[in-house]
Amino acid sequence: MRKKVAILAGDGIGPEITAEAVKVLTALQEHWGLDWVMESGLIGGAAYDATGTPLPDDTLALAQDSDAILLGAVGGPKWETLDISIRPEKGLLGIRSALQLFANLRPAILYPQLVGASTLKPEVVSGLDIMIVRELTGGIYFGQPRGVQRLENGEREGFNTLVYKESEIRRIAQVAFTIAMKRGRRVCSVDKANVLESTELWREVVNEVAKEFPEVELSHMYVDNAAMQLVRAPKQFDVLVTTNMFGDILSDCAAMLTGSIGMLPSASLDQSGKGMYEPIHGSAPDIAGQGIANPLATILSVAMMLRYSLNESAPATCLEKAVGTVLDRGLRTPDIYSPGMSQVSTGAMGDAVVEALINTP
Ligand code: NAI
Ligand code: MG
Repeated sequence: MRKKVAILAGDGIGPEITAEAVKVLTALQEHWGLDWVMESGLIGGAAYDATGTPLPDDTLALAQDSDAILLGAVGGPKWETLDISIRPEKGLLGIRSALQLFANLRPAILYPQLVGASTLKPEVVSGLDIMIVRELTGGIYFGQPRGVQRLENGEREGFNTLVYKESEIRRIAQVAFTIAMKRGRRVCSVDKANVLESTELWREVVNEVAKEFPEVELSHMYVDNAAMQLVRAPKQFDVLVTTNMFGDILSDCAAMLTGSIGMLPSASLDQSGKGMYEPIHGSAPDIAGQGIANPLATILSVAMMLRYSLNESAPATCLEKAVGTVLDRGLRTPDIYSPGMSQVSTGAMGDAVVEALINTP
């Protein structure tokens, strides 16, 4: 059966950056003979404006019916005063939970051409290539009970619950170990097992899964130390696996080691390998509509899509090489510009990647 890719452009720079990713997907079809259908849907603020909801039924149906979803970004000042239940971000969260996209893959890669973009010393970050695997559909963000209540003495109390089932820990650990097998064969599991019982179980289950992967070296780290080590000596890590909240924080920290929000892709996968792919940045309303957004994070998300959902790892590697080629040529959107380089628009960057891709043997 023909594979299907859903294109959800969203808001702000979303439409501009996904247009460049679609150029790449089209070039892959035309020049590499790869085959899939692409279908667009509304999400976020754009969907709210058109239909009154950030996740219309036909968009959800399209997402459910697709092998992979490419998402631009959602949100912006226009919708900030809306009730939280109909805010653009709900569109994204709705897809994540409806499709059970429990494995969030966040690579933090520092391209050698952009070493100067990091705030850390070159010797600390050059060659950085780590993969953070964050559990995305469980933990304290979803645990019950949750809420704010008034105590008998009149004082208010807010509460959330950190809960993980064994099965939820096992499946995310399996994803992390499987990825580690194709990389440096090292997994560091991050928890707070000295204080939180739920993460004591996390550690136990990760140890059990490790037995299925004898070639992978497993270590454990408390989250406070992991935060410190990410800034002190990030290259010690290969694959990091952790809970939803710890992963939220650590993946942003790791992303910033590379200094360039416009360069980092992500994937969110379900049990079967179906996934949603998106840049880690938001809708960047401050630069929307100017043709200056960096499309590379979205284009690199396409590479992850090829690898994880479309079973096309050779083209994925070529696409990543093509991005390296345009950086070698000195092409830079303003967010990664440095003196001596050639400043280019969103569209010119996309065109250059396509050209490099077509010319890559
Ligand atoms: P942001 O990531 O949109 O922007 C932060 C800064 O980075 C801005 O100065 C922006 O111009 C710049 N930037 C981001 N992506 C860029 C790119 N590709 N090229 C060049 N520069 C880029 O984060 P911010 O400003 O906090 O949020 C803006 C909106 O995006 C909010 O409504 C927020 O809720 C939403 N958002 C959506 C996300 C998503 O759709 N997954 C994730 C994060 C935020
Ligand atoms: Mg975050």
